[in-house]
Amino acid sequence: MIRKGDFVLLVGEDGKEFLLKVEDRVFGTHKGNIDLSALTQLDYGDCVKTTKGVRYWIVRPTLYDFIKRVKRQTQIIYPKDIGYIMLKLGVGPGKRVVECGTGSGALTMAFSYYVRPFGRVYTYEAREEFSRLARTNLRKVGLDEWVVFKVARGEDGFDERDVDAAFIDVKYPEPLVKSAWDALRSGGSIGFLLPTANQVSSVLKVVDEVGFVGVEVVEILVRRYKTNPERLRPDDMMVAHTGFLLFGRKVRRGCG
Ligand SMILES: C[S@@+](CC[C@H](N)C(=O)[O-])C[C@H]1O[C@@H](n2cnc3c(N)ncnc32)[C@H](O)[C@@H]1O
Repeated sequence: MIRKGDFVLLVGEDGKEFLLKVEDRVFGTHKGNIDLSALTQLDYGDCVKTTKGVRYWIVRPTLYDFIKRVKRQTQIIYPKDIGYIMLKLGVGPGKRVVECGTGSGALTMAFSYYVRPFGRVYTYEAREEFSRLARTNLRKVGLDEWVVFKVARGEDGFDERDVDAAFIDVKYPEPLVKSAWDALRSGGSIGFLLPTANQVSSVLKVVDEVGFVGVEVVEILVRRYKTNPERLRPDDMMVAHTGFLLFGRKVRRGCG
């Protein structure tokens, strides 16, 4: 059963979607209103009609739905990249992760979701207003409990030691590579989001100098399709580029 305070994703027969918190209010769509308090009489998978008779199915929102709708004042990392980042960094329950460049908190949301219930995300942001926005975004979805928000510059060093993973998404990442090395445990993973190929070249040199191994550079492209079974074909437009991803592993220096 759906309870007051739960999040629901309303999927309309007209293709529109709305992510909403169930509370005592009326939600207005372009095709009639929905009394949200009435949803507590229904369950996920049920259907509700607007006052104009348009059907919306009620489904449980996933992390993807929340991240897509993050209130943003910065560029954010997209779900297509986030999935790979989580796997490459080995983020899971109990892991400790340092992030630099909190921005709007899209990636922080994913880290905090996966490290629960015993892990922690330590996220550094140079600008107070972005850190505050990210905290609000995380609190809205109940994930702020697993995050320590810090207003500080990454090049001044991270306070944590022996963390499992570090991720850097800032304009000038080179000076932060050493900070990340110092924070990581031996065997830990580092990742970067880099918008330009020039930055990839420059960071490749620094990660090598600092001593990271197992270095990988990838770019992830997602091509969407129109879902008409009789005319199956790709969408006309696609997001062609978000950023390059660079990963590496910290190891002990010297080998016999
Ligand atoms: C592109 S945004 C990060 C977006 C974030 N990954 C997300 O998914 O929402 C980059 C952020 O890094 C911050 N930043 C830039 N240089 C920094 C530094 N040296 N130390 C800490 N934060 C920095 C910027 O203020 C900005 O908010």
